[in-house]
Amino acid sequence: MKLPIPPHLLAIPPYVPGKPIEELERERGIAGSIKLASNENPLGPSPRALAALREALGTLHRYPDSAGFRLTRKIARRLGIAPEQIVLGNGSDEILSLLARAFLTPGDEVLLPQPAFAMYEIEACASGAVPVAVPLKEYRTDLEAMAGRLTDRTRIVFLNSPHNPTGHRIPAEAVAAFLVGLPAGVILVLDEAYIEFVRDPRGPDSLSLLASGRPMVVLRTFSKAYGLAGLRVGYGVMPPEIAALLHRVRPPFNVNLAAQVAAEAALDDEAFLEESRRVVHEGLDFLREHLARLGLFCLPSEANFLMFEVPGDARAVYEGLLERGVIVRPLASYGYPRHLRVSAGRPEENLRFLEALRAVLQR
Ligand SMILES: Cc1ncc(COP(=O)(O)O)c(C=O)c1O
Repeated sequence: MKLPIPPHLLAIPPYVPGKPIEELERERGIAGSIKLASNENPLGPSPRALAALREALGTLHRYPDSAGFRLTRKIARRLGIAPEQIVLGNGSDEILSLLARAFLTPGDEVLLPQPAFAMYEIEACASGAVPVAVPLKEYRTDLEAMAGRLTDRTRIVFLNSPHNPTGHRIPAEAVAAFLVGLPAGVILVLDEAYIEFVRDPRGPDSLSLLASGRPMVVLRTFSKAYGLAGLRVGYGVMPPEIAALLHRVRPPFNVNLAAQVAAEAALDDEAFLEESRRVVHEGLDFLREHLARLGLFCLPSEANFLMFEVPGDARAVYEGLLERGVIVRPLASYGYPRHLRVSAGRPEENLRFLEALRAVLQR
């Protein structure tokens, strides 16, 4: 078939998702596998969200509230900001897409750390913009080098804190200084998908930086700490002027009814959030200790996952773990062919992962 394919679409790098459990079991004819590959909540969804969902099932013949009135207001109250500053998305992924659609034109530049969450580059390329990737320095976002790569074509700068896959959190003061140094008109997007897991909350809350009136968007999600990845709901917090533009390009009903209802209930489920944090923090400590005992280098993490180095080719270790029904994330597509990323699981999942890893390394 001969189609006039826009050349910039061919530049889009494919997104490599964590392997689903069903796919692994179908391929290998095994059962009882575990997935620690996509930084999902090891406890499942918030019970209050589940209860609210059950109650809402009878209204699924209705379209959702396109404006997400109740959820938006609840988030705004929780964060102490105006509802006009919030845009809901079909996952925080969708906010990236809306930002690209609203602000990027072919030839614009988008600055991002390398590696970073793949969707930054994908959205930039899909808009015909040029991703300018700045390598991490000792596993940390190199803000100085990023500032040095700004040009008069730069439209968006992506930062991710805590960073996926390193787990490093950029100190809030450093984000503040970076924001102040940005030329007028450049939008800073600070992706905080893992913010709820941060253990050391020193420094100003990123949302307080919005008060500076500078163009900044903070991304948050219900996919991780709230356990609602399957429903797809996240949001961006931003100046109302930016929000108004995103609403112009936002598809109506972009956040489905079930997702809105569940997210609202999950916000009230503080016990679940606390328990999620506890299980994740204990899991991280346990995994780090045992990875160190295996002699493996492992980065400290402020998120719900760990990045660690294995001897030789990490792909072979990844495959060995798959054979044993354990799914983690190989990081070759992030530029780290010797590293793996593992999400903190429930205690029995963490043990199972470590046992499998030990067996694979001893082969
Ligand atoms: C850094 C980062 N940002 C955003 C997302 C996407 O989150 P959502 O499920 O809200 O689209 C992820 C998911 O893995 C992520 O790691």
